[in-house]
Amino acid sequence: MINGETRLVGIIGWPVEHSLSPVMHNAAFHHRGMNWAYVPLPVPPDRLRDAVRGLRALGFRGANVTIPHKQAVIPLVDSITPEAQAVGAVNTIVVESDGRMWGTNTDVLGFWSDLQAHDVQVEGERVLVLGAGGAARAVVYALARAGAQVTIANRTPARAVALARHMHHMLPARAFRVVEWTVQDLARAAEEHTILVNTTSVGMWPEVDASPWPTGVGFGRIRVVYDVIYRPQETRLLQHARAWGCKTIGGLGMLVRQGAEAWRLWTDQVPPVQVMEEAVRRGLAER
Ligand code: ATR
Repeated sequence: MINGETRLVGIIGWPVEHSLSPVMHNAAFHHRGMNWAYVPLPVPPDRLRDAVRGLRALGFRGANVTIPHKQAVIPLVDSITPEAQAVGAVNTIVVESDGRMWGTNTDVLGFWSDLQAHDVQVEGERVLVLGAGGAARAVVYALARAGAQVTIANRTPARAVALARHMHHMLPARAFRVVEWTVQDLARAAEEHTILVNTTSVGMWPEVDASPWPTGVGFGRIRVVYDVIYRPQETRLLQHARAWGCKTIGGLGMLVRQGAEAWRLWTDQVPPVQVMEEAVRRGLAER
């Protein structure tokens, strides 16, 4: 029950009512018997500065940040982590007891720890990443930092090139390749890579019949296919990859683990990942 000692965290977005984060985080607090609450904080863009300052004034331990504020919030915190710098977006703010605020991006660790949870080792592996948007940045950085050789393919090639440059700047010891978004190039890439990660929105509900992988093209030497999409939980891409014999992983684990990482940063406790996952599954089922 909320009382005079309840500690607060929340999610800043516009809109926020469809977010699964409140049920995920509150389930974890409840499970541990912790007197904390995670509240929705709908903030229009012209109020973002006031809202972020307000976290400190109101004694919040932190907040998640979502669309459309993930970039705009960067200059409003005192510092950001290399993860946030790499992704170019902050999705989690932590407020220290002296009022100092820092921003990070937990998608990087969320993706990486979900790979670990699925026993996927990426060091030395060649990984083909589809897409060059925000999700791609987190994925490419996590993979390259863990020692993978990353190739990027994107419908708009200039964005793939820009992403490769930015990542090389963040991790100078790593090389990043770019391949064209054509049937021939993707088919060839399938023979040269062992892991495929989709970070595009192709196949996301309600366009569930769409796939970013060209129709009729096999997966070559690819053994593992990861789709960051979590709705549906098995996309058309994953269905095809499973039929080909690949190990397939949907985006639910990354969603849960990016949240679990934020929870850990705020509470300094090991998050109950299973409880958080069940809460997200229930939330999705209600939609
Ligand atoms: P997010 O932050 O979720 O990654 P985003 O920055 O809008 O979202 O990126 C969406 C990604 O999906 C991009 O790589 C986009 O390709 P473009 O850069 O060419 O726009 C990709 N994408 C979206 N719709 C697509 C489609 N129909 N075919 C191929 N790629 C698509």
